[in-house]
Amino acid sequence: MSSVLIYGSYGFVGSLVAREAIDRGLEVVLAGRDPEAVREQVEDLERPGRRFALEESDVVREALAGADVDCVLNCAGPFSNTAEPLVEACVETGTEYVDITGEIPVIEGIADRDEAAREAGVTLVPAAAFSAVPMDCLAAHLAERLPDPDSLALGVDSLRPPSIGTVRTVIEGAEDGGAVYRNGRLEHVPAAWRTRRIDFGRGYREGVTMPTGDVATAHYTTGISNVAVYVAIPQPARSLLKLHRYVAPIVAAKPVSETLKAVAGLVREGPSSWSRERGSAYVWGEARDEYSGERVVSRLRTPDPYVLTVDAAVTAVERVLETDLEPGFRTPAGAFGPEFVLDLEGVAGFFDEGTPDTESPRIDVAG
Ligand SMILES: NC(=O)c1ccc[n+]([C@@H]2O[C@H](COP(=O)([O-])OP(=O)(O)OC[C@H]3O[C@@H](n4cnc5c(N)ncnc54)[C@H](OP(=O)(O)O)[C@@H]3O)[C@@H](O)[C@H]2O)c1
Repeated sequence: MSSVLIYGSYGFVGSLVAREAIDRGLEVVLAGRDPEAVREQVEDLERPGRRFALEESDVVREALAGADVDCVLNCAGPFSNTAEPLVEACVETGTEYVDITGEIPVIEGIADRDEAAREAGVTLVPAAAFSAVPMDCLAAHLAERLPDPDSLALGVDSLRPPSIGTVRTVIEGAEDGGAVYRNGRLEHVPAAWRTRRIDFGRGYREGVTMPTGDVATAHYTTGISNVAVYVAIPQPARSLLKLHRYVAPIVAAKPVSETLKAVAGLVREGPSSWSRERGSAYVWGEARDEYSGERVVSRLRTPDPYVLTVDAAVTAVERVLETDLEPGFRTPAGAFGPEFVLDLEGVAGFFDEGTPDTESPRIDVAG
């Protein structure tokens, strides 16, 4: 039977993923850099474990080869620190790779390893998580509805407290501000660059542009040259985000970001199972052809982002192990098709708005 090594298996998401993978009958190897945490989890879940850090490439390579695994599922973030060594070791040892990153630079870095992965015959699937599976699949669906659109706007409305790991990842990426794809190139823009009123599926709300991993995956999946992602955020937070333009250099400064991360670590682990069970998210997407004026809108409703992340990550690993996928860098929708998101539990959609039309003009509010 094929086996999966879950790196960062004792983190908040990693431990949920490990339990889910075991429940689904996958052969799981638990892994991470902290010997005590791995040992405790091995005892608790009664599965084999491997302790290794990612600083030395030969150690990582030997750990994968020694564990005799078919796929790595990387749940250790910020992924800017963990994806590269694991991807390189996967390429060198012929091991499939899946992760749950939502970081644009990480996805771009993995895209750059496409050729090496093809030559090695391995598939690299980053962002098999809330960011980016729903929006990536929605983007692919919209591109099927309106061939060759020149712009894609995507958005999500989900109010929920993040896990501490997510907070740390956001702090780590603070100095980067915002990002969109414009004219086929990834462009850095200020934080909360554009504001837009969007009907995500439960009435209009204001969304601001955010540099989520969906920006990159939607571009790679569809080839659309202009992609922006909006996140619905209440007014006080929108103002704070705009302020971020001025405070980002301070937040990103080493002593400050280290202190924030340390404080974040003291606060709380992640959303409780109670709030995960009740959470939900509304996902919206619009493709436009600026020349013809044609526009299509589709929506999705999903369970709580953490619930979806666990389901998406484990399902992606199952598909990678069971399906004969084309090797190379693949986005979730690129690898498994637009319908992938509909196979996840509790997802409803696609809700399509009309046929291509020229109504409903875009409403941009000054950023
Ligand atoms: N794309 C999405 O939609 C999505 C959804 C949920 C979470 N995430 C991301 O997933 C990541 C994990 O989230 P979480 O809530 O599980 O965080 P967490 O509880 O803090 O767990 C992080 C895990 O990563 C490990 N880790 C971090 N840096 C490492 C490094 N340099 N080398 C080796 N191991 C390292 C940690 O090990 P130690 O304890 O030993 O440091 C821990 O096991 C975050 O980056 C978060 O943003 C993405």
